Amino acid sequence: MKLTFFGHAAFGLETKDGVRILIDPFISKNRLSPVKVEDLKADYIIVTHGHDDHLGDTLQIADKEKTLIITVLELAHILAKKGYRTEAMQIGGAYNFEFGRLKFVMALHGSATPDGQYAGLASGVVLTIEGKTIYHPGDTGLFYDMKLIGEMNKIDYMFVPIGGYFTMDITDGVKAAELVQPRYAIPMHYDTFDLINAEPKEYVEKVKQLGIDSMILKPGESITW
Ligand code: NI
Ligand code: MN
Repeated sequence: MKLTFFGHAAFGLETKDGVRILIDPFISKNRLSPVKVEDLKADYIIVTHGHDDHLGDTLQIADKEKTLIITVLELAHILAKKGYRTEAMQIGGAYNFEFGRLKFVMALHGSATPDGQYAGLASGVVLTIEGKTIYHPGDTGLFYDMKLIGEMNKIDYMFVPIGGYFTMDITDGVKAAELVQPRYAIPMHYDTFDLINAEPKEYVEKVKQLGIDSMILKPGESITW
């Protein structure tokens, strides 16, 4: 398994069998992205919510015949009407895909498409793939039920929004890691707009003081297992 950070909340995964998965592929307007939209292909695209910096370039990247877009039902229906293949799930539900198990969990945030259409609830995802479990919370404020997510799932990699303004900031992101108790807490959703500039080293130091491992993934860097 190879998981690559593209900056913001965007990730690419490639399984041993060559299945390509994208999460929240915000690429063309992402000033930190190390890749171009035309270089990305995906068998699956997981979208946490409809905002422009998460739905991102999904429609440009998705092949209408081959790519399956996995998201919450309301957003899935909007995309299906445009002719895309979708898997319409909902918060609390999980499904075993060929690549692994994906569960949608709550996020404390809104969701609309870039043209303002209501797109259901914003979500986070817990993805178990090739023996490791990832928690991508999407955009979210801090909420205490993160503790439940940590109690019910042994999280290896938790990606934590730290940029503030639209999501948690460093202080709240540290508390989120304390609630979830992941093997590694990894900061995301910062420095892509001036409003959300943040210092990831400060986050890493504060999380480590709680006895939780943390690391910075620079855009373009990967974790493999
Ligand atoms: Ni958002
Ligand atoms: Mn966002």
